[in-house]
Amino acid sequence: MDPDYYYKSSKCSCKTNFKNEGVVKMANVNFFSNEQIPLEMHKVRIVQKLELPPVEHRLEAITEAGNNTFLLKNRDVFMDMLTDSGVNAMSDRQQAAMLTADDSYAGSETFYRLESKLKEIFGMKFFLPAHQGRACENIISQTLVRPGMIVPMNYHFTTTKSHIVLNGGIVEEIITDAGLEPISTNPFKGNLDITRLNALIEEHGADKIAFVRMEAGTNLIGGQPFSLKNLEKVRSVCDKHGIILVLDASLLADNIYFIKCREEQYIHMSIREITLKIASLCDVIYFSARKLGCARGGGICTSSTELFEKMRELVPLYEGFLTYGGMSVREMEALTVGLDETMDEDIINQGPQFIAFMVDELVKKGVPVITPAGGLGCHINAMEFLRHIPQDEYPAGALASALYIASGVRGMERGTLSEQRNPDGSEVFSNMELLRLAVPRRVYTLSQVKYAIDRLVWLYENRNLIEGLSFVEEPRILRFFFGRLKPVSNWQENLVEKFRKDFGDSL
Ligand code: F0G
Repeated sequence: MDPDYYYKSSKCSCKTNFKNEGVVKMANVNFFSNEQIPLEMHKVRIVQKLELPPVEHRLEAITEAGNNTFLLKNRDVFMDMLTDSGVNAMSDRQQAAMLTADDSYAGSETFYRLESKLKEIFGMKFFLPAHQGRACENIISQTLVRPGMIVPMNYHFTTTKSHIVLNGGIVEEIITDAGLEPISTNPFKGNLDITRLNALIEEHGADKIAFVRMEAGTNLIGGQPFSLKNLEKVRSVCDKHGIILVLDASLLADNIYFIKCREEQYIHMSIREITLKIASLCDVIYFSARKLGCARGGGICTSSTELFEKMRELVPLYEGFLTYGGMSVREMEALTVGLDETMDEDIINQGPQFIAFMVDELVKKGVPVITPAGGLGCHINAMEFLRHIPQDEYPAGALASALYIASGVRGMERGTLSEQRNPDGSEVFSNMELLRLAVPRRVYTLSQVKYAIDRLVWLYENRNLIEGLSFVEEPRILRFFFGRLKPVSNWQENLVEKFRKDFGDSL
């Protein structure tokens, strides 16, 4: 496939060039200067003041947080790029809708508005509400996974894997080889390997497969999308063997956008048509509404009466009554509008375009990042950035700590630290060591993104000053949330000293 085809042939207003040479504007607006920058199709009407503490204070704060960015306090953070979960900016229409919420334990109008919006965009018969994405994973896993069963998927997400394993299941990641190549021009690194799927079914038998899971905008490999063609192929394998296909749609907005811009065959379909097509191929769709729809909550959609009835029993038990599922009605109203806005290309292109800008600028400066730009955020390849740090000294964790010291920017480690040790205590080295810099939608301006790029470039020039981390307190499960670490030497003091030398009295 010609990797450049989609931006040559597409009418899509926003195309990232696979050679990472630049970004075309978000709307169809050309600059007289020919400058290639993303142009925001919104205006900012509510703002929140930020603080940027001096570098010495930042060193104290990260030390107090045990070099774990999850343990930093917001008051010490300048740009919060930890996640895009529950922190995307809401629109005026979402805020206004919140005032019309109909509060009631059972039967609220708010629920029926949300249910009808989901039916409209996915064309599925049933909707079960849940308080967030992992709650859906609990319900789906309890319903479909039995001990010893296998769940093939393009790639796992942390909470997904935990729920499947908790129910005795086994996760099999069968992403195509391209998915794990840090530098690539492949437009669909989130594709599932069909040959390996067939081989798994052949080896274990279809009745051992609990379900096949496709994750839109594959989170842990850099927000990389799957193609609609790939989903169609997965569907036909599932059809052949009578296997259920489950879609994790948490990052669907980015994935639809990439299909629209990158997949020649579907370029002329509207966002709504692409969404309906995707949904028509799946038996179950679940999502974190902390991402999809820019609100807070989650839910499961299906057209299968049998699956609906089985999963329905668990909702009042774990979430709340069937017409709120643990969500506040205000968030449900915001979600209904947010889902509708997800069908607007000028809205969902903001994230991918800002991320592409960041990735392209870093590539120009030689900083190792995951390419092509995906959704969710910009992913720094820490394995390459800090080649001198061995994986058991957590290069991505060390980079997260160093970037915070250098900039007040909070990112998230997505590498060995986020894995769980083997039962014998040995480390599970992750496939990739990433520092994820999430780009919450419509939250940061281009000058703030440029600041983050500037500090990353400085850090890359000074990468030899950065050394590893070691655990001081290591929780047995989900250690990346609460674990505390210390630097293996006094490298952080040296970094602060170099910062002062290079930046003078700058914050
Ligand atoms: N699936 C995917 C693909 C996710 O990215 C997330 C959350 C979940 C499921 C779970 O949803 O948080 O609402 O329970 N991702 C967040 C992140 C935590 O920071 O990437 P949740």
